[in-house]
Amino acid sequence: MCPVFERKKMDKYAVKGLNERFAHSSPEEMLWYFLDLLGNRIALSSSLSIEDQTLTCMLRRIDPRVRVFTLDTGRLFPETYSLIDKTSQQYGRMEVFFPDCAKVQEMVNTAGVNLFYESIEKRKQCCHVRKLEPLHRAFAGLDAWICGLRREQSVTRHDMQMVEWDESNALLKLNPLINWTEEQVWQYIRQHNVPYNVLHDRHYPSIGCQPCTRAVAADEDIRAGRWWWESPDHKECGLHKR
Ligand code: ADX
Ligand code: SF4
Repeated sequence: MCPVFERKKMDKYAVKGLNERFAHSSPEEMLWYFLDLLGNRIALSSSLSIEDQTLTCMLRRIDPRVRVFTLDTGRLFPETYSLIDKTSQQYGRMEVFFPDCAKVQEMVNTAGVNLFYESIEKRKQCCHVRKLEPLHRAFAGLDAWICGLRREQSVTRHDMQMVEWDESNALLKLNPLINWTEEQVWQYIRQHNVPYNVLHDRHYPSIGCQPCTRAVAADEDIRAGRWWWESPDHKECGLHKR
């Protein structure tokens, strides 16, 4: 393995060095580097957002075998399921990870099917069972995961970096589009004819699970429709804990 990446030796200086190295690189240049370095020990975690669709296109153009997975919480929009199908047809199959059936059953039978509206704790419990636990299974065999995070998406993401050491999962975390604007993402989508969720044309800029996502008004923030009953500084499902 290339000496630049040895998991046990990843410290803040190594991560800083990687961020400096890619400070002026395109997302594709960065992806090339890590795909070459890590082979099949790297994967894209895709929610089918415009950012993740962009990354799917970039990655599969570099290497059609690169792993792309999504977490099917069981509560996604029908339009998102259609997009999983369309994306798999266009770029090759994406892997789908499901929540543990017994854990969902226990949660629903003790706390209710729509527990997430009752409190932040219950919302986080649902995200844990339906997203986090399957994510941890998806990490098996990986040294790095790729995400579609952008800094301007939310107050909780302003200080995120292109390359991060994901301490809680002991993995390298890559955010190739961290500096991109929403307009840059749409430009890429249009230029490369990338399929996207039709809900975006119906005022859903950010899409998660159906019961936890609503459309937004023209003057609202792009993440205003996610867990809209919570305050902006709580709006993370735990996937991007730092
Ligand atoms: S969330 O934490 O609020 O749900 P968001 O929808 O902005 O996150 O997505 C940010 C990144 O988290 C995505 O680009 C993707 O890398 C990852 N992600 C979010 N939801 C999923 C999912 N259902 N499956 C796989 N990855 C996901
Ligand atoms: Fe559950 Fe809502 Fe989280 Fe989806 S976004 S896992 S439905 S709380």
